[in-house]
Amino acid sequence: MSTQSALAQSDKQYSLHPYTPLKANREQGPFVISRGDGVYVYDESGDRYLEGMAGLWCTSLGFSEQRLVNAATRQMQALPYSHLFAHRSTPPAIELAEQLVQLAPKGIERAFFTNSGSEAVDTAVKFAWYYHEARGKPTKKTMLARHRAYHGVTIAAGSLTGLPYAHDGFGLPVIRVEHLTTPHAYREAHPGESNDSFATRLSNELEATITRLGADTIAAFIAEPVMGAGGVLLPPEGYFAKVQAVLAKHDILFIADEVICGFARTGNWWGSDTYDIQPDIMTSAKQLSSAYLPIGATLVSGGVYDALEEQSTRLGTFGTGFTYGGHPVAAAVALETLNIYESDGIVDQVKASSPHFLERVQALQNHPLVGQARGVGLIGAIELVADKECKTPFPAEHKIAAAVANAAKEHGVIVRPVPGDTVAFCPPLIINENEIDQLFDAVTEALNDVSSGIAKAST
Ligand SMILES: Cc1ncc(COP(=O)(O)O)c(C=O)c1O
Repeated sequence: MSTQSALAQSDKQYSLHPYTPLKANREQGPFVISRGDGVYVYDESGDRYLEGMAGLWCTSLGFSEQRLVNAATRQMQALPYSHLFAHRSTPPAIELAEQLVQLAPKGIERAFFTNSGSEAVDTAVKFAWYYHEARGKPTKKTMLARHRAYHGVTIAAGSLTGLPYAHDGFGLPVIRVEHLTTPHAYREAHPGESNDSFATRLSNELEATITRLGADTIAAFIAEPVMGAGGVLLPPEGYFAKVQAVLAKHDILFIADEVICGFARTGNWWGSDTYDIQPDIMTSAKQLSSAYLPIGATLVSGGVYDALEEQSTRLGTFGTGFTYGGHPVAAAVALETLNIYESDGIVDQVKASSPHFLERVQALQNHPLVGQARGVGLIGAIELVADKECKTPFPAEHKIAAAVANAAKEHGVIVRPVPGDTVAFCPPLIINENEIDQLFDAVTEALNDVSSGIAKAST
């Protein structure tokens, strides 16, 4: 038996995979990636793939950044573990908090460390509740989110996620949450409605929801600046300005979930910069360490921090934290990641490569299967339709986006099907122009393969 099949056999027998149809994996086995180099990964047989999704929207610096390996090794040798509870700290955790706060949007003043995006979101919810309790408003507990949002899978974050696949079978949501209309004009705007009128309608819906529930019951609104896993959905212009005005009137916090958008993905340091958001609380993970080690963060404004401090003085401690939160090795790797972003000018790199990337995304708009091509910075998507004119979707059982992603893999490129018959692109930020061409040449061939398959099936 070859090494590959022995590994695959073992996986089929012993592993339980996230976001995977379990029976299919038990029967077919896994796609085993064993090595990476630049924007490429290699499977067990040595076949090379351009990683057009940066893993799960996260390996910003590609798969062979030696400076991150060295940072991890140095820290592992100096101090492999210590924690941040009860006044303890470590040099990398202290430096990382300082650097992160300095990079963060104006008004953000403190950083709290977690191990993942979901933990960062759960922590943001707890902070919002604690904040309102501190200010004598313990009834402010309901969260506002959007349909098709992705905020993770833990109990609170999973509840905020607005996708049925994250709720079904688990009995979620279990925290009080209201999901509002997705800010996706292609599907949600009324015929003839301008972007501005669409954005106004969404902010009116927000206002009406607050009136219906009572502002005294609502803690916070959470939003990804660009909705990632729900379909790479870009907000209509002016949407966040209108939303923020409503929230401010009703003493409702704005949590910006920057887990995908943070660190240049949208062409600026933060999605909040791109869309002019002034968050009270912010979550970060993924590109924070280029995903080389698990680490996340929940960041808060000065105003939120003051309330947390007051309440913790009353209660005697700040009763939340993770054993591995701010783990010194993960913190050292994150710190080195931020150093590389600064020294290599990652924001400028993305600003330079984005026009070509977006041009290639937009060119797909001409393909007969593509209803809408969209993107910003180095994140993009195509939404597939059976009929461009009427925006008619394919029957769900055709799994058309998955078919395109599978065909792209045959052409040596990894892209991802996401909800709404959409194929997402989110390559490492270090991708160059030739590699961008390779990515989109393969996607074009994949679209052609699937088109001809459909044509053949209908004759
Ligand atoms: C915007 C957003 N928030 C939170 C999460 C959850 O992060 P994690 O998978 O690290 O728990 C994700 C993951 O994709 C995400 O995209």
